[in-house]
Amino acid sequence: MPLLVSLARRARLALACTPLVAATAALAAGTPLPDVSMLAGACSNCHRAGPATSSPASIPTLQGFSEEQLRQRLAAFRAGQVPDATVMPRLMRALGDDEIAALARWFAQGPAR
Ligand code: HEC
Repeated sequence: MPLLVSLARRARLALACTPLVAATAALAAGTPLPDVSMLAGACSNCHRAGPATSSPASIPTLQGFSEEQLRQRLAAFRAGQVPDATVMPRLMRALGDDEIAALARWFAQGPAR
């Protein structure tokens, strides 16, 4: 799949991000997402459910945020307004306002699933 390979290379993302790259590639190709769970599932590769200790080192869990807090945080990553961020700005740049809003709603409704 040359498109996915080139997307992954351009984003210089770890293998863990491949599902998200695939999902955003589908978005970029104009394919409607059947469900936000497709995008959210990629987030959960890094952001595990449960208390902070359940996520890999230095990756925060997404519990305890309101929908609006999450939406603002994700938009700030995309806008490059989080100076110490590593992977999140790259991931968020691939998403539109609608996807960010849908992800914020999804993760505000409960632990990563
Ligand atoms: C490759 C691993 C990885 C993936 C995939 C990933 N994240 Fe992150 N996320 C991180 C890291 C690491 C941070 C800390 C900020 C940084 O370094 O970019 C973070 C930070 C965050 C934060 C801020 C949390 C806080 O405590 O301020 C939110 C919200 C977030 N991610 C949401 C998401 C969503 C939604 C997705 C799916 C679209 C996602 N992340 C996918 C690794 C990841």
